[in-house]
Amino acid sequence: MRRKVIAGNWKMNMLPNEAIDFVNNLAPLVKNSENEVIICVPFTDLFYTLLTVQETNIHVGAQNMHWEEKGAYTGEVSAEMLKSINVEYVIIGHSERRQYFNETDETVNLKVKSALKHGLKPIICVGETLEQKEQGKTLEVITSQISRALQDLTLDDISNIIVAYEPIWAIGTGKTASSDDANESIKAIRNQIEKEFGTNDVTILYGGSVNAENAKELFTMSDIDGGLVGGASLNAEKFSKIVNFE
Ligand code: PGA
Repeated sequence: MRRKVIAGNWKMNMLPNEAIDFVNNLAPLVKNSENEVIICVPFTDLFYTLLTVQETNIHVGAQNMHWEEKGAYTGEVSAEMLKSINVEYVIIGHSERRQYFNETDETVNLKVKSALKHGLKPIICVGETLEQKEQGKTLEVITSQISRALQDLTLDDISNIIVAYEPIWAIGTGKTASSDDANESIKAIRNQIEKEFGTNDVTILYGGSVNAENAKELFTMSDIDGGLVGGASLNAEKFSKIVNFE
């Protein structure tokens, strides 16, 4: 379902005591927001964060998971494990995982299916490299990535996903896609989903150097439903300004 969502991605930052302080600081600042607020935290912060967000309107997500149910996969965490402690969301296919941990469209698809099977809502990331952008291949790359990520899903599944369009060259660089370019890319993703599943009612976020200054312009574009925010999600006050962008 299309709705305004602002999701923080802490990446490999924040110890449990910092996570608890963050939530206690953020909660009063966003309590009147009509936008959905999600923080995606490291595995070691999940339990503490989930306890601290009780009685608030803050939702919690993980940043990765394995697609297998259980077994000899040292160091991995399954969808069922996340669900068992009441995690609601999970980021899948972030470009840093594709780049540093060899994630492919195929493993992204396996993870998306396992997340949905266990009742987690995946936040599925797609985005082009600078080289692909310069070659004019952005729309081709991102529509193919989303198509492969969603392979074998049902229409029902589509109502439980969020997509994040994150141009790789914009992540952590201070360079944001122009609101028109981001909107065009997101529209292309939406059209692709409509072509394959017969619905365009999907929440699609923009990510890549979102901050309190550029959030409003981006998030009020026709096809952009909010943001996936990295660096600027580590400070509760800054993040609250993005959540309350209106
Ligand atoms: P950034 O990261 O906001 O620091 O660019 C976004 C992301 O990686 O999700």
